[in-house]
Amino acid sequence: MDHTTVARFTTIADVDRQISLVLSDSPILTTGNFITSRLTRFEHPFFNASPADALPRLLVLKELYRVHDAVDRTYAEHARANRARPASASDLEVFRRTFEEIVELTTHRRPEFRSALGRARRFLDLGCAPGGFATWLLQNTGMQGMGITLPSDTSVPGVPVQDALQSYAPRFPVYLEDVCEIARGQSVTDWEKHVPSTGFDLIIANACIMLAESSVPRSTKIRLMYAQLLIALERITAGGTLILSLWMRPFDWVVDIVAILNGSFGSIDAIKPRYQGKTSFAYIVCQDYKITANKPRHIEHLRAVIQHLDSAEAGDIDTPTLPNLFDSGTPDEETVAFIVRLFTPAWQRQCDAIHRDYERVLSGINSGPAAHSSQCPSSPTVSRRLQEIPAGRSNADNSFDWRKRHVEQPNDADYRRRQDQRNTGFRQLFGVPTAVSEGRWR
Ligand SMILES: C[S@@+](CC[C@H](N)C(=O)[O-])C[C@H]1O[C@@H](n2cnc3c(N)ncnc32)[C@H](O)[C@@H]1O
Repeated sequence: MDHTTVARFTTIADVDRQISLVLSDSPILTTGNFITSRLTRFEHPFFNASPADALPRLLVLKELYRVHDAVDRTYAEHARANRARPASASDLEVFRRTFEEIVELTTHRRPEFRSALGRARRFLDLGCAPGGFATWLLQNTGMQGMGITLPSDTSVPGVPVQDALQSYAPRFPVYLEDVCEIARGQSVTDWEKHVPSTGFDLIIANACIMLAESSVPRSTKIRLMYAQLLIALERITAGGTLILSLWMRPFDWVVDIVAILNGSFGSIDAIKPRYQGKTSFAYIVCQDYKITANKPRHIEHLRAVIQHLDSAEAGDIDTPTLPNLFDSGTPDEETVAFIVRLFTPAWQRQCDAIHRDYERVLSGINSGPAAHSSQCPSSPTVSRRLQEIPAGRSNADNSFDWRKRHVEQPNDADYRRRQDQRNTGFRQLFGVPTAVSEGRWR
């Protein structure tokens, strides 16, 4: 989409008109059409099978959004405001609220979800952080948990510690491990000894989210996704629940993961919480794990993909070709229909969230600088920040990378001080066993 056309948009009605124009351009997937250049070939059938107001509208809207200068400026202002603020107790609170919303939305769709949560006794949080899903579970259920998270220091800037939660520490030991190392059988702690013999009733696999919009190579993100799934399938109990955050673009590896989930659980739903409305992932809530004859094949496949991504051949690239995904190179009709059914409500929700934000940004331009800045998050709670951060530039593999906008790197002393406070707090909060408490929290 050319920049000059987009620069002329001053109201959301202009945007909507352009979307209609592009979508009425038939056939839409012709060479030279800008959407074609944004899609992998594997995605074409999904695009064609999706209702027009779901994946097609979303892709066009995202493109019109990312190219607009006002969106860029707003993002830069948010980044500056967020850097200037002190760490606040509401950081990561958004994850707790998000989990609350996931429970509500899933229960609405499948009322048995709440009773499954009520029955669950043990949970595992792969990629845990304070204030997040684990916090909700510890506050709202009697479950015992176990957390795995990285020992170094590159995620979640400015995360505070919620002192009140320290009382939960005995119910939630945290082990500093890399999920990928565990998947390779190279665990560095004794966490395995504490895994219940019957497995976990609930597993949260949400480590990828902080990577979702970052500039790490796509192969690293995919490896983490497969590693989480491998660990989850090996340690979940029969009848158990898995909540996995997953990209919503129907890339071949996303469809591969959904196929494994669909073949292993009684039900799967893609839940898109309002609090993370504009982001490109959804939570796949998988209920009633079945130990089927396919389990060894799934495990073997997951291992093969991880090994492939570890190999020099795959390297740190953005468009890895993975082994044994869809032999014919194209998905069958049933798979396409299933994926479209699964993701359509989530695509629509993301679309609505970006549309609302676009409208807000454009009305800021029309009201002049004072009104515009008043609509930026001057009260920087994370919940507002996450709702309001605009979508970003597309990167090499046509995904949308929110953090590739003009965000300055947090390298000042104040930022580091807050990181240190946060790291100390994380240890206290989760009662990290002393044997594994060395190193910094992320
Ligand atoms: C979004 S945050 C916490 C999400 C938390 N599970 C929740 O749902 O509230 C993701 C966490 O995963 C951790 N993480 C990222 N990559 C990881 C890896 N390879 N192994 C273990 N933890 C990882 C990050 O350090 C971060 O604390």
